[in-house]
Amino acid sequence: MSVLVTGGLGYIGSHTCVELMNAGAEVVVVDNLYNCKKSSYDRIKALVGRDFKFYECDIRDAEGLNKIFENEDIDSVIHFAGLKAVGESVQKPLEYFDNNVNGTLVLLDVMRKHGCKKIVFSSSATVYGMNNVSPLTEDMQVGGVTNPYGRTKYMIECILQDLCVSDKEWSVCLLRYFNPIGAHKSGTMGEDPNGIPNNLMPYITQVAIGKREKLTVYGDDYDTHDGTGVRDYIHVVDLALGHLKAVEKVRGENGLFIYNLGTGIGYSVLDVVKAFEKASGVEISYQIGPRRAGDIATCYSDPGKALNELGWKAERDIEEMCEDSWRWQSQNPTGYPD
Ligand code: NAD
Ligand code: WQD
Repeated sequence: MSVLVTGGLGYIGSHTCVELMNAGAEVVVVDNLYNCKKSSYDRIKALVGRDFKFYECDIRDAEGLNKIFENEDIDSVIHFAGLKAVGESVQKPLEYFDNNVNGTLVLLDVMRKHGCKKIVFSSSATVYGMNNVSPLTEDMQVGGVTNPYGRTKYMIECILQDLCVSDKEWSVCLLRYFNPIGAHKSGTMGEDPNGIPNNLMPYITQVAIGKREKLTVYGDDYDTHDGTGVRDYIHVVDLALGHLKAVEKVRGENGLFIYNLGTGIGYSVLDVVKAFEKASGVEISYQIGPRRAGDIATCYSDPGKALNELGWKAERDIEEMCEDSWRWQSQNPTGYPD
């Protein structure tokens, strides 16, 4: 029995594939290479020491997906494939709805045709919107999202919930990630954004390597301990390990399950800058700029439900997250090779 991993060559998918295979699982990856390099496949293989199936295919290609399900013995799916840049989604809403929502509909339809009704979905803390107060719990109202990217996540959550109501054979796990950072301990896999990074940690590592001059801190007048935005950063390997527990869950039980994957600890932008400087020994130049549209002051999880029901807890602290991000960036100044 194999797990189909959509978007499995991307940042979180690649780390999850390594942990799945290290735990003895069979993995089949589908990725259209839109936001990753093929060399990510070679890096995963090198780390696990064995080959695995990779199909270059778009999840909106029903024919292509059908063939994969015909060729492989797939019993469950971890669905990472999607576009994820908040700012870009405002400029290109149709592309985001098509890729993320339509892509998921095509995938679910093919899964159903093949009697595969177990799926773990990459959702996001963004579905909690602007109005809930941290720590965020899974029973809070979701949907007050402010951008097309966030709306695709919310819409897909709704689709999957409706599917579970319509057919009790489905088993769906919605994982709401907080802020994934860090990289594999080996320094051979990590986050490799295209162009100017949107997210904090890749921006910091690019300043550290000399690729960017200075970080702009988006606002220092929030109601937080130092005025800068507070987030729940989680090591990507902890996040990957959460997926192993989620796959076990959907393989063992039908129904709908929703979990936050975070540490439960909030760090400010300046806390992260300091932790990174300590871990890397490199000073990070920064300037204070205006607030970024759509940002909130504070966002962190209550991760208790995942601990109680999945037995999962994030183990890696902010220092380790920074050390591993830096090892990846310093060993791969230009990211994955072409
Ligand atoms: P990523 O861009 O590194 O990985 C996504 C992968 O999916 C890429 O390799 C890309 O080529 C592939 N892909 C995209 N559209 C596809 C399509 N139509 N068909 C086939 N492959 C396709 O992103 P990531 O950071 O690894 O995120 C993975 C998932 O987790 C995404 O769904 C993202 O929205 C979600 N998520 C990410 C974060 C984060 O901060 N990184 C936070 C919350 C949720
Ligand atoms: C973190 C903090 C910024 C960059 C986003 C998505 C969310 C999820 C994770 C996918 C904030 C500040 C950032 C910079 C800065 N992704 N910052 N200077 O916004 O919490 O979440 O990624 O699902 O949906 O919205 O993450 O890393 O962009 O920002 O000061 O150059 O760092 O203002 O306080 P965010 P981030």
